[in-house]
Amino acid sequence: MVRAWYLEGDGLDNPRDEHQRLPPKFITLEDLYRKTGVEHHTLNVDTCETDGSLEKLKEEKGYKFEDFLETPSEANLVESYKEHLHEEEESRLVLEGCGYYDIRDNEEWIRVEVVPGDLIVVPSGCYHRFMLDHTNCFEAKLFFKNPHYKVFERPADNLACRQEYLKKLHNGEFEFQES
Ligand SMILES: [Fe+2]
Repeated sequence: MVRAWYLEGDGLDNPRDEHQRLPPKFITLEDLYRKTGVEHHTLNVDTCETDGSLEKLKEEKGYKFEDFLETPSEANLVESYKEHLHEEEESRLVLEGCGYYDIRDNEEWIRVEVVPGDLIVVPSGCYHRFMLDHTNCFEAKLFFKNPHYKVFERPADNLACRQEYLKKLHNGEFEFQES
């Protein structure tokens, strides 16, 4: 079961800690979607490749390319923990281990803990960062609509995808998740 909570502080020291508030401030996946546009789907990692559920989702989302991610190196984690965005959505299905997606919500961070079976979709133009927990184990499938995938570190506010994302948030276009 995926958990999501507001970080205490900026999470820059000891990023692999949970950084829960006291008391913790959890957020539902519905509210996460409404506030940030981040989607979450649950798949059975043992069967999704053979029962058609992954294929169906890939078709619905228009994913034509995929890659495999093993536990990132420390150097790669330093990079992925820098606040950034992409012009494409970032889509990962966790196969092993545990990761933290931090999603920017104005001045705060929402930490989304992803474990096997969680498919998280960070929309284009949404600032985020990624870290592992202390177990340092992670495997995931990455899905793309096109093979060109660039990282833009913050500030990237002038990019069209950022402006588009802010417009969608403002217009309440992330009110209801499709599935
Ligand atoms: Fe990213």
